[in-house]
Amino acid sequence: MDKRQIGQTGVSLSRLGLGTVKFGRNAGVKYPAGFELPDDYSLTRLLSQAQELGINTLDTAPAYGTSEERLGMLLKGKRQDWTIIGKAGEEFENGKSSYNFSPAHFAESLERTLKRLQTDYLDVFLIHSDGSDNRILSDEKLIGKMQDFKRSGMVRAIGASTKTVEGGIKALDLMDVVMATYTEDHTDEKAVLDHAALENKNVILKKALASGHNTDINGAMEFAFSHPGVDSVIVGTINPTHLQENAAAVTRVISLRQLS
Ligand SMILES: NC(=O)c1ccc[n+]([C@@H]2O[C@H](COP(=O)([O-])OP(=O)(O)OC[C@H]3O[C@@H](n4cnc5c(N)ncnc54)[C@H](OP(=O)(O)O)[C@@H]3O)[C@@H](O)[C@H]2O)c1
Repeated sequence: MDKRQIGQTGVSLSRLGLGTVKFGRNAGVKYPAGFELPDDYSLTRLLSQAQELGINTLDTAPAYGTSEERLGMLLKGKRQDWTIIGKAGEEFENGKSSYNFSPAHFAESLERTLKRLQTDYLDVFLIHSDGSDNRILSDEKLIGKMQDFKRSGMVRAIGASTKTVEGGIKALDLMDVVMATYTEDHTDEKAVLDHAALENKNVILKKALASGHNTDINGAMEFAFSHPGVDSVIVGTINPTHLQENAAAVTRVISLRQLS
């Protein structure tokens, strides 16, 4: 599978990344159907399959239940083979999300993430916004802290998972990468992608299948990659057949783009 680099950071993102919410959390989620958390054997097989399909990118966060711990255990000895996207700012406990965007919390959260993932670095570290992007990204101390993490080598690239145009653009101006939403039903953030394309910054899309409510995989991937600003799309799945379909759809659309 084709890959994209994040600026000069040396971080490589496969065009399709695997979202891991369903590895660790089945409460308070917006998927069309309930599900049991997969066992270790199923996840080991899913990760091997992802690798065989050329997927190197995994997306996780403290808010995804046991996702970080499980990845730490499952990737033991193989961490270097993967690009891991982590986040801080949102916590999910006792069925409820809470948020903390203080630099001190970010330092603690990153340490805890590295411990859970059994690693000493993250490839991409994102501010997990609650939607008040502008307020969060206006905190110079927080941005300074993110830059410190990068300078220290604890993380290789920094950015934010945002929900607004203003926030997405601000994140791109201050850091390396933004995680945004762009689907046929949600084009509000297009200006963020335009800005990234113009400024040579990187964009990762989340929720490309509208959390499973859109089952037209080919259509969704065609739409996602119709914008030249999009580097990688994270799709969450715990189903091997779906993973295969998603990789085939992305490979197809990227080859068509490269031909045209
Ligand atoms: N604020 C943030 O930073 C943020 C917010 C949301 C999500 N994310 C990240 O983005 C990832 C994706 O978001 P998401 O999980 O909300 O939504 P999504 O990727 O749009 O959709 C995932 C859902 O689609 C289903 N699905 C996947 N492939 C399919 C296929 N080929 N056919 C039919 N159904 C399919 C999955 O079910 P199966 O398991 O049955 O395949 C799952 O229920 C997350 O895992 C997370 O890593 C980040």
